Amino acid sequence: MTWSMKQAPEPATTPTLMLGGVSVYQGWLPAEAQAAMLAELREVARAAPPFSPDTPYGRKMSVRMTSAGACGWYSDRRGYRYADTHPSGVAWPPVPPSVLAVWRALAAPHRDPDCCLINFYGEGARMGMHQDRDEADFSWPVLSISLGDDALFRVGGTTRGGKTQSLWLASGDVVVIGGAARLAYHGVDRIRFGSSRLLANGGRINVTARVVT
Ligand code: SIN
Ligand code: MN
Repeated sequence: MTWSMKQAPEPATTPTLMLGGVSVYQGWLPAEAQAAMLAELREVARAAPPFSPDTPYGRKMSVRMTSAGACGWYSDRRGYRYADTHPSGVAWPPVPPSVLAVWRALAAPHRDPDCCLINFYGEGARMGMHQDRDEADFSWPVLSISLGDDALFRVGGTTRGGKTQSLWLASGDVVVIGGAARLAYHGVDRIRFGSSRLLANGGRINVTARVVT
């Protein structure tokens, strides 16, 4: 086979930096791939409209969310869990191919995720420090893709309240929360609303893909 000069370079499969034990691939998704993923995520949102769940503590989350895949992440006064359908009763749409491609490249080539959670951060939205621990098998990583406005992402250790480190995530950055850091506390302190032009009206989308069962 001859190599064409026009062939796009393979994206790096080594992290550009580590934050605690969390792998960060800065700028992993090129602009065209971000736009293509956004179009697929809009289709998911059309079929399964985003909602703001209640936390078990009775407060509405500032982030709006929906899911794709066999199950979707859900929360109400009864607690955090995965649900087989959207609250309206419709099935969650399939995981978008663009998300599967990133998952297979950076998370797990031979086992696809059961859930693709899509979080929408409008102006002032944030996400408190938490662990992703509603899944059955923590040997699978959580893959996180950032689109749109910059977000101040904070990572701690596997116990609440310890030392933390922060990093601004930009559109196209991909984070893998796995290995010894799989149960690391993490959250988003704030977004820089309007810092990206990917979303016409500003805001941020974060996509996390997980193996659930
Ligand atoms: C999450 O932990 O579910 C979201 C993380 C992020 O928005 O970057
Ligand atoms: Mn999380």
